[in-house]
Amino acid sequence: MTESMVRPSHIAIVMDGNGRWAEQQGQPRSQGHQAGSDALKRTVEAVGKRGISTLTVYAFSSENWQRPSVEVKHLLELFLNALNRDVAELDENNVCLRFIGNRSAFNAAIRDGMRRAEAKTRENDGLFLNVAVNYGGHAEIVEAVQQLGHEITQGVLRPEQITEALFEDRLYTRGLPAPDLLIRTGGEQRLSNFLLWQLAYTELYFTDTLWPDFDEQHLDIALADFAKRQRRFGTLPQAEHA
Ligand code: IPE
Ligand code: IPE
Ligand code: MG
Repeated sequence: MTESMVRPSHIAIVMDGNGRWAEQQGQPRSQGHQAGSDALKRTVEAVGKRGISTLTVYAFSSENWQRPSVEVKHLLELFLNALNRDVAELDENNVCLRFIGNRSAFNAAIRDGMRRAEAKTRENDGLFLNVAVNYGGHAEIVEAVQQLGHEITQGVLRPEQITEALFEDRLYTRGLPAPDLLIRTGGEQRLSNFLLWQLAYTELYFTDTLWPDFDEQHLDIALADFAKRQRRFGTLPQAEHA
């Protein structure tokens, strides 16, 4: 990779394919999720090393509760273990951790772990890492609408004051720039309810690589692909404005 390449400043990732990876290895799905959490650690490091400022990863969707209860239980255990074991290292690496999604579905231990992790890392500015847990794009938009509705009934907001910027400010991602690049591993070419509002002009990159196999080389291939894209945002390329 050359240093002059245009890089995204915010990458979002749908980390898909853990179950199929485990199946390929003749292992239970839980092993796939374990390997997926190792891939996340590697990716956080690789993204940070490349000077990319923000990474947002889809770890658990609002629909994933519908999986068999043993799998959901395992995923929650993995999440709690990560909150207890990995936050100190993220903090040492100057990572600012935040969670996006509806927290009310989680037990007190997990909610407390999330709060502590955010408080401990809040002053860090090396890499902004947002982890989407119990996240759904539809739910996020509906919650924002509910909140605006409350503000109107309380008399602190008039409907005509609702702008795109104000709406964005009621989303879980308030204050974050939109992703420049979305990577989805695991071969499916869909969004699965991830960041529906925020991805309006994001470049999409799909790879068959299963998430537990994703490494620095795969990241560099995605970045090289991004560098070739011409982003227009509905306008015309710079030269044709003249
Ligand atoms: C992604 O891997 C992890 C979560 C959705 C929690 P999957 O578990 O969806 O893996 P596949 O898609 O079944 O291979
Ligand atoms: C999307 O993957 C959610 C996460 C990666 C956390 P899924 O495996 O849940 O998506 P679908 O079911 O293939 O759309
Ligand atoms: Mg999947």
